Amino acid sequence: MPIDNLTNHLRAELAGLQDKGLYKAERRIDSPQSAVITVKGQEVINFCANNYLGLANHPDIVAAARQGLDEWGYGLSSVRFICGTQDIHKQAEKRIAGFFGKEDCILYIACFDANGGLFEPLLSDQDAIISDELNHASIIDGVRLCKAKRFRYKHNDMADLRAKLTEARDCRFKLIFTDSVFSMDGDLARLPDICTLADEFGAAVGIDDCHGTGHLGATGRGAAEELGVLDRIDIITGTLGKTLGGAAGGFTVSRAEVVDWLKNRSRPYLFSNSVPPALVQAGMQAFDIASSADDLRARLRENTARLRSGLEAAGFTVKPGPTPILPVMLGDAALASGMANRLLGQGIYVIGFSYPVVPQGQARIRIQVSAAHTAEQIDQAISAFTEAGKELGVIG
Ligand SMILES: Cc1ncc(COP(=O)(O)O)c(C=O)c1O
Repeated sequence: MPIDNLTNHLRAELAGLQDKGLYKAERRIDSPQSAVITVKGQEVINFCANNYLGLANHPDIVAAARQGLDEWGYGLSSVRFICGTQDIHKQAEKRIAGFFGKEDCILYIACFDANGGLFEPLLSDQDAIISDELNHASIIDGVRLCKAKRFRYKHNDMADLRAKLTEARDCRFKLIFTDSVFSMDGDLARLPDICTLADEFGAAVGIDDCHGTGHLGATGRGAAEELGVLDRIDIITGTLGKTLGGAAGGFTVSRAEVVDWLKNRSRPYLFSNSVPPALVQAGMQAFDIASSADDLRARLRENTARLRSGLEAAGFTVKPGPTPILPVMLGDAALASGMANRLLGQGIYVIGFSYPVVPQGQARIRIQVSAAHTAEQIDQAISAFTEAGKELGVIG
């Protein structure tokens, strides 16, 4: 059978992944998402979810999802423009646009779709898209689908961005697009400098704020607020799948004309189902909670500072950055995965990342802090890291 040839080929490829230690095995968790979860019957403290404010399974968000289900039904069996738009979809779009101080919003099933469907409708072969080399896969794929000329600048390198803008000078429309938070490194895009260069070269600026919305910035408006440039960012994409309740849903906010055009031309929106009502209602609740979560944001900052200083005092190299993502640099891939496995045995759930997810020789354990962690849990993590680090010769 023709499929035999394909499956034989895949079997060999999968064995290759196993041999190189690149096979992604999924650990099963036996509990809802939380600061403490159960893995194979063992309770572990979770340091690898994007649950920055601890809102995954927040009772008010779960109640809103139930209300959405009860009032508006399970699903719409339609795309938005045929018969898939309910009042709550419009309310949510207004709510999200208002949160960022932008004119309008378009909802997607996921931010992967928001990014995948952003560039192709807006830019043609007369235009230019200028993006950071470390941007998320969904941005890279979205850019690939677009006919605009592509320019990639070195990560956060403003001299290189200037060079690329100079090369793109004669293009009709220029859009600089970047992750606002780089999730493997925990650093922020240099948005004030990017905006200044954009002004100089007449470019628009867009960001993916998936790892910033809700927890960064004084009022949770994300990385652009944190860096004081929210009003200078023209397009923001984001997710309901991380800080804002952790389920699913994506969005793009921008000027009314941009959103209107996307609603007419963005393929993942036009050719994919409406966001289910339970997620829309829960998403609005998550935005409400995040809007007044100064206490959670303060706790997240305290937890992050406590963990960073504890690890640094123990002798670990933690990449610098202002976000709750703490990359503990180990260098060697086998060491990173071995140390993560050892930590799991000690009740600390973290993941080792190695090539090709991060550059060769820069393997690391990425810790993600949550406002839901207690000070004791943070201290437990510091002790476990210190013990494992000494055993494995990472620290003295
Ligand atoms: C920076 C970034 N953009 C986009 C996405 C995709 O978001 P979603 O899960 O809503 O598709 C992710 C999630 O991994 C992300 O980290």
